[in-house]
Amino acid sequence: MTSDTAAIVLAAGKGTRFRSEVAKVLHRAAGRSLLGHVLEAVRPLALAQTVVVVGHQAEEVAAEVDRVGLPGATTALQAEQRGTGHAVQQAVPALDPAIRRVLILPGDTPLLPARVLEALLEGATAGGAMLTARMEDPTGYGRVLRTPGGTVERIVEHRDATEAERAVTEINAGMYLLDRAGLEAALGDLDDDNAQGEVYLTDIVEVLGRGGAPVSAIDANPVEIAGVNDRAQLADAATRLRANHLDHLLREVGVSVTDPATTYVDVDVEVARDAVLLPGTILDAGTRVGAGAVIGPNSHLTACAVGAGATVHSTRAEQAAIGEGATVGPFSHLRPGTVLGARSKVGAYAETKNAAIGDGSKVPHLAYVGDATVGQGVNIACGVITVNYDGATKSHTTVEDGAFVGCDTMLVAPVTIGAGAYTAAGSTITEDVPPGALGIARSRQTTKEGWVERRRG
Ligand code: UD1
Ligand code: CA
Repeated sequence: MTSDTAAIVLAAGKGTRFRSEVAKVLHRAAGRSLLGHVLEAVRPLALAQTVVVVGHQAEEVAAEVDRVGLPGATTALQAEQRGTGHAVQQAVPALDPAIRRVLILPGDTPLLPARVLEALLEGATAGGAMLTARMEDPTGYGRVLRTPGGTVERIVEHRDATEAERAVTEINAGMYLLDRAGLEAALGDLDDDNAQGEVYLTDIVEVLGRGGAPVSAIDANPVEIAGVNDRAQLADAATRLRANHLDHLLREVGVSVTDPATTYVDVDVEVARDAVLLPGTILDAGTRVGAGAVIGPNSHLTACAVGAGATVHSTRAEQAAIGEGATVGPFSHLRPGTVLGARSKVGAYAETKNAAIGDGSKVPHLAYVGDATVGQGVNIACGVITVNYDGATKSHTTVEDGAFVGCDTMLVAPVTIGAGAYTAAGSTITEDVPPGALGIARSRQTTKEGWVERRRG
């Protein structure tokens, strides 16, 4: 039953060890914020409610919660960050009356898979359960102290621990599933009598145990529950996230990756079967690559949609849609709003922006096409420029189906080249060219016979 279960996600801390102006949970790993990773792990549980505790940069963190769009997610404010226990105290009043069990999670554990939370939900006993792990280097984590009988007695934070306690390698993952009534009662018993002068959530373990409802421990994989407390750990987590995602693409989807070590694919990137990712490929969040497409070498795509069978060689593209079987690059820059039709071609050395290029149309070399609508079967020859900006306003260029825009044409917008029309090479086109016409706008050539000889003489 998850309709009686809520999550509280702790995301109010500053993250002092990050040495950053930006709240820790907003820092990104493999294209998602740390908080986003945790909320995505919660999503499949389909919980009735999730309360995210915000404090440091509360507005920005709340905006991130909205952006993630987890159903049932709200925020609670912890105006002063007085510790993890204090954070939970701020969230509890926001819980719906129907909630009976509370899952408590830190906001800084990006490697956490949903399956580990499912195990916690299933494995919890009456008193509740917590996740623990054996860490080779437990530095910084709370240590799990057990009675001789093996029951979890209490958690001691690294800073408060004695040498002997620090030698314990079983650590607290900071993830708990607790009975709501027990939690609320235990929260009333917390104090801030510790090294940091904070209200530690970890102290509830001892309080609940003394009350006769000891918390059981579920052993988890130390990598999956790892917290990110500084930028070195952030970089390490990002590397693991990308490696996991590449592994999924290689083994489960059927994507070829020539060199995983030089291929950077964010977690929110979809790549279809038989696509090939060549070395130096960077695919940022929001990118989708169709079946059989070939990306790279050296292509960096942000929030792009690439159609099946397209090739994108040595290209930078942002918020661009690349049609099926299209050819892009080498050395092209597709800026936001670019929409390339099926089997179209852009580059080498071309830049597009806010431009729709129709099926089968070609912008093969050294061109700038911005604020333009280009029909089907159009040829935009070498050196063509849409003159879209007069220093104050941007104007639109339209090139209709089957037109041929000759080399080195300046299309001074607003301007329309009609269907099947031509422009002569080297023309500066300032007026519309009707369908089927030739637009020519250049001075006639004068040839001076014998000029060189006369000059030398
Ligand atoms: C915490 C646990 C520690 C555990 C570790 C696991 C406590 C006291 N310690 O330590 O036992 O081994 O997690 O990763 O709980 N936060 C707030 N408000 C606050 C303080 C923190 O919302 O006042 C949030 C932070 O933004 C963060 C989370 O709580 O997302 C955990 O805080 P953090 O400072 O990272 O705790 P740790 O020192 O890692
Ligand atoms: Ca932490």
